[in-house]
Formats: sequence, structure tokens, C-alpha cells
Amino acid sequence: MNDGHEIPQLGLGVYKVPDDEAAEVVRTAIELGYRHVDTAKLYLNEIGVGRGVRDSGVPREDVFVTTKVWNDDHGYDETLRAFDDSLERLGFDYVDLYLIHWPVPSKDRYVDTWKALERIKADGRARSIGVSNFTERHLDRLREEAEVVPVLNQVELHPWLPQTELRDYDTANGILTEAWSPLARGRVLGNDVLDRIAAKYGKTPAQVVIRWHLELGNVVIPKSVTPSRIAENADVFDFALDQDDMAQIATLDSGERTGMHPDNG
Ligand SMILES: NC(=O)c1ccc[n+]([C@@H]2O[C@H](COP(=O)([O-])OP(=O)(O)OC[C@H]3O[C@@H](n4cnc5c(N)ncnc54)[C@H](OP(=O)(O)O)[C@@H]3O)[C@@H](O)[C@H]2O)c1
Repeated sequence: MNDGHEIPQLGLGVYKVPDDEAAEVVRTAIELGYRHVDTAKLYLNEIGVGRGVRDSGVPREDVFVTTKVWNDDHGYDETLRAFDDSLERLGFDYVDLYLIHWPVPSKDRYVDTWKALERIKADGRARSIGVSNFTERHLDRLREEAEVVPVLNQVELHPWLPQTELRDYDTANGILTEAWSPLARGRVLGNDVLDRIAAKYGKTPAQVVIRWHLELGNVVIPKSVTPSRIAENADVFDFALDQDDMAQIATLDSGERTGMHPDNG
């Protein structure tokens, strides 16, 4: 990342994983080799995530954990308080990455919120800071009014919404792009193009799409609570897509979102 820290390119998403299941899911993923977990205040499972990291027995510094400030907590002081609360729920003395979850342009407080993240980074309590669901316009504003460049921008991204222009912008500005809903929330199943490519490599459509993300250079955080799928989603390092596969996947681009457009928040 642009601040010198490293992030594992593949991680586990835990949106909609109940808090009382999160510890087990996170521990299972770590046992299967994951070293990166993506949570948020909104997901109401930071307590379980922290417990899962501790239960795994893997040292804290070997697992990369992201959490996020929620829309209700925008503002400098509010964000500092929200961060303290997240850290306490996780049971950690630092997080690896703290993100602004959405820019919420209707509130227009994301620059103050970002300044709080800069403070938290300066204090060493978040090793890295970044944003989520920021468009070029929101990122331009941070460039003009703030000091620190976000390490990454976590956005909805999958074959139906490849975010080509935003990825180019991020790259030009030293910002990694991280894909949320990388499997389009399960839509990758039952698609002819992906089925054909999967059959060619003896892989599943989900594995083909995760491989597609890796080859584009995206950080990717597929979510699953199913141990066999958690394992499947990480078993993507023994094959590579060719130019023809990438061109075929590019035909799926339809601009369709599973979530809301960031300008509407
Ligand atoms: N920043 C943001 O605004 C934002 C928004 C949304 C999500 N996120 C992050 O991104 C992560 C991933 O996104 P997501 O949870 O929305 O969707 P996703 O990862 O695209 O898809 C998850 C769905 O796919 C299923 N699945 C997972 N692996 C599979 C496989 N190998 N084969 C078939 N189905 C499979 C899961 O089922 P099971 O769990 O039942 O196995 C679940 O229903 C989230 O968990 C969260 O950490 C961030």
C-alpha cells in the first residue's frame, strides 16, 4: 500500500454474519489460511471477529483486520469516539485498516471524518486508513483538503460492474481498489460464460471470478459462512486466466449494482 504497509490480497468478508457465529467463521477461515478479515461497525459482529482472531491462536500481528466508521458517526469528534468503541469491541489495541464506510455527500462531513482518521493513524491506532464507496469526486476533494492519501478504496466491483474508470483513477493516484460483493452476492452461479471458463480449468465459477479479481489487481474479500466455500474461495492460486477468458468476462459488464450508488447516501 502507499504507506508502506502490506495487505493480503485475498480476505474474508463478514457482512451479515451474526456476532455469535462470527468467532467460529473467522477462526475457521484463519485455520484454512486466511490472514485478512473485513468487518465494520454496521455488521454488529466486531466482538465475534476479535474473538475469532484470538481463538485462532495465530498472533494478532499476522492477521490483517479492517473495520469502518458508519454513516451516523461522521464528523471529527464523532469518528474518534466511534473508533474507540470499535477497538474496544474487537478487543484490540490497533486495527490494520480503518475505512470511511460511505462518503454520505448529503451530510458533507467526510472531510472532517477523514481528518479524524488521519489523527488515528498518527497515533498508531490504525496502521493504515482508507475509504469505501468513494467516487473520483470524493477522492479529489480529499486530495485538495486533506494530507494523507487513502491506501485503498473499497467499492462494489464484480463482472457486472467492473469499475474500469474508477480503478484507473485509483491506480493513477497510488490507491488500491478493493472489491466488495466480489461474487455479486452469489450471482456468479449459473452464468454460461463463467460456467464454460470454470469447466476449462476444473474450477468453480466463484473461483474463476476471484481469480479474475486477483489478475486485475483488486484486493478481494468474498464472504461465506460455509466452511467448504471458505476453503474453495481461497483455492485460487494454482491456475491463471488467459486473455480470451478475461475478454469473455468483460462482456458481462452491464453496470448493474447489488447495492446503492455512493452519490445517493
Ligand atoms: N464497503 C461496503 O459498503 C460493503 C458493502 C457490501 C459488502 N462489503 C464487504 O464485502 C464482503 C463481500 O460482499 P458480500 O458479502 O456482499 O457478497 P459476496 O462476497 O459477493 O457474496 C456472498 C454470497 O455468496 C455466497 N458464496 C460465497 N462463496 C461462494 C461459493 N464459493 N459458491 C457459491 N456461493 C458462494 C455466500 O453464501 P454463504 O455465506 O451462505 O456461503 C453469500 O450468499 C462483505 O462481507 C463485506 O465484508 C462492503
